[in-house]
Amino acid sequence: MRTQHIISIKDFDREGIDSLLDKAALIDRQKGRSDALNGKILATLFFEPSTRTRMSFESAIARLGGTTLSVGSVDACSMAKGETLADTIRVVSGYADAIVIRHPREGAARLAAEFSSVPVINAGDGAGQHPSQTLLDLYTIRQSMPIEGIDVALVGDLRYGRTAHSLAFALSLYGVRLHTLSPNGLELPETLSADLRESGMEIIAHDAIDDLIGEVDVLYVTRVQRERFPDSASYFNVSSSYRVTPEILTGAKEHLIILHPLPRVDEIDPRVDDSPHARYFEQSRNGVPVRMAMLREVMQ
Ligand code: NCD
Repeated sequence: MRTQHIISIKDFDREGIDSLLDKAALIDRQKGRSDALNGKILATLFFEPSTRTRMSFESAIARLGGTTLSVGSVDACSMAKGETLADTIRVVSGYADAIVIRHPREGAARLAAEFSSVPVINAGDGAGQHPSQTLLDLYTIRQSMPIEGIDVALVGDLRYGRTAHSLAFALSLYGVRLHTLSPNGLELPETLSADLRESGMEIIAHDAIDDLIGEVDVLYVTRVQRERFPDSASYFNVSSSYRVTPEILTGAKEHLIILHPLPRVDEIDPRVDDSPHARYFEQSRNGVPVRMAMLREVMQ
């Protein structure tokens, strides 16, 4: 078997992303069930909570004829007895044909790949990267408009939000103009914005949603990543400092789409769910065809 890991969205160039999204679209059109991965086993190792990422990977492998082996938490496996991640991965790669891993530590997926004899897919490493989420985000944008040259706003916790980090990089491959809005102290990390600017991306920082809503084609909202804060007081200082409401959307372009990787806390008013701009539940459904295409890519 090939060992082809997917650790960062930087593992793809633009052609690679476009071709994977084309394959996902084909799977989607064919109402995606096949026996392409018949008998293959996917291990899902989630050391942080997950609903969508884990379940859509598990749904994806099932629809391709394979099965899942799962460890639900650090407490439920021998890491609770002091086993290292490296040893756990060495062992699990003997039981499965690919591993999907989510871990609170940045860099954990890359470490896992070093010790795995089968492909590893990063399903989120701390505040690092979340490449499968980015692919389904791009897929959802592409369903509404070509990505090339559009204006995208990233709103929310851009410091700790791994979905924002991966997405910002991917958008830089498409000549997108980036608008940012985040609570004080939760701006995009300097190193990331410097890299993006160096690649030619224009980044415009805003202070309020009202200032950017009329300018953008995509509004990508994220929750404040509470679990990455040192204490709850510093979390409550910044939470709820931005919120998308129907009133704010009166200033939006007609074709604006609103995305959110979910879970949402209170950053999108539930009254927005019925608006023609809201695409976040469709976006979460898109996780299945996109992850089917990813699994075929690394496991076939
Ligand atoms: C995201 C994550 O885990 O980074 N969730 C997801 O995978 N859809 C976003 C988040 O938890 O806020």
